[in-house]
Amino acid sequence: MKSHAQGATVLVSFAEEYFAAASQEIMAVFPDAAVERLGPDLAGVTLPRGGIDDLVRAVRDSPLVFVKHLSEEMARIPLAAAEISAAARAGRSVLDGRLAAGDPIAVQCWVSGEAPTGFGSADLFRGIADELAAHGHPAVRTGTDLVLSGCIHRGGISLGLATKEQALSDWPGGRVRLARARDSVSRAEFKLEELLRTTGIRFPGRGRAVDLGAAPGGWTRILRECGLEVWSVDPAGLAPRLTADPLVHHERTTTGRFFRATSLRFDLVVNDMRMTPRLSCETMLDAAQVLNPGALGVVTLKLGPKNPGRTVRSCLDLLGQRYRVLVARQLHHNRHEVSVVLRASPERDWRPATPSR
Ligand SMILES: C[S@@+](CC[C@H](N)C(=O)[O-])C[C@H]1O[C@@H](n2cnc3c(N)ncnc32)[C@H](O)[C@@H]1O
Repeated sequence: MKSHAQGATVLVSFAEEYFAAASQEIMAVFPDAAVERLGPDLAGVTLPRGGIDDLVRAVRDSPLVFVKHLSEEMARIPLAAAEISAAARAGRSVLDGRLAAGDPIAVQCWVSGEAPTGFGSADLFRGIADELAAHGHPAVRTGTDLVLSGCIHRGGISLGLATKEQALSDWPGGRVRLARARDSVSRAEFKLEELLRTTGIRFPGRGRAVDLGAAPGGWTRILRECGLEVWSVDPAGLAPRLTADPLVHHERTTTGRFFRATSLRFDLVVNDMRMTPRLSCETMLDAAQVLNPGALGVVTLKLGPKNPGRTVRSCLDLLGQRYRVLVARQLHHNRHEVSVVLRASPERDWRPATPSR
């Protein structure tokens, strides 16, 4: 895809409750950004001296935690003229010169809030797909390098374009839909599945993992599927199927007691414990002492209603004492959480505790 225009508007999706947090973190990195809320979970963000790639970089490096999906707005049909045929024609002209003859193209349509147009995302998809098919391009739902977005919102219909890497998620507006695995144990599995699918993070295929707050065992099940031997720490019970597995060791205790007693070393620590973000991060600092060099860590930070952005920043700072933060993102299945992926730092690089700890 050719490089994007400076000053372009980018369609930014986030969870509805986190609009304030998402716009604050964007403004902190891009103080001259203009943020226009287009729907409950959608904003148009214009960077006077930047474009979608600057936002992609900021999601990774700053990180922008509450941004779920990105697409560069290429055309907007105002509400008064928002008809399917107009959107379909606009979608086709957005793609003019960008596809080779016969190339398929992923078309992803969604509605932010209630559709004010009298038609929804399925109708919009059909209209755009028919128009593209008539010009030799089959529309698919996912899996092509370039993605055409069609988003219905209170300002009309926006047509957006992004590569699937720029989009952050290969689902309409980042709304990931995963089918529940036949042998799944808990809904919490979706969070870990989504993290693995959308961030490209790969868990080791063998070695030892410790799952903190493991019950009823959804994450333990996924770690076993990866090939890891798992120590599942939780006073609560695990699904019987897991306790019958000789490579699952249920430690029916709290994490504090487990760390004091164990002499094992692990290649991966995951932590989905229901507790305050700060306590959860302090547990991750303790976990660093039982990790092999370069081990990975995953923690979900359970956010309260107050200052989610500030909470996340202070947690990432705390985790930075013993880890490098690889990913920090609110995923579609996170609801009131943020998922963080970490790489354990070598002990010589550990930072001392900050005075507030
Ligand atoms: C959201 S559930 C975990 C779900 C799990 N990831 C799954 O996939 O099934 C949170 C768990 O954290 C556990 N927990 C809370 N505090 C804990 C502690 N100090 N030590 C160990 N487990 C704890 C709870 O007992 C609860 O089972």
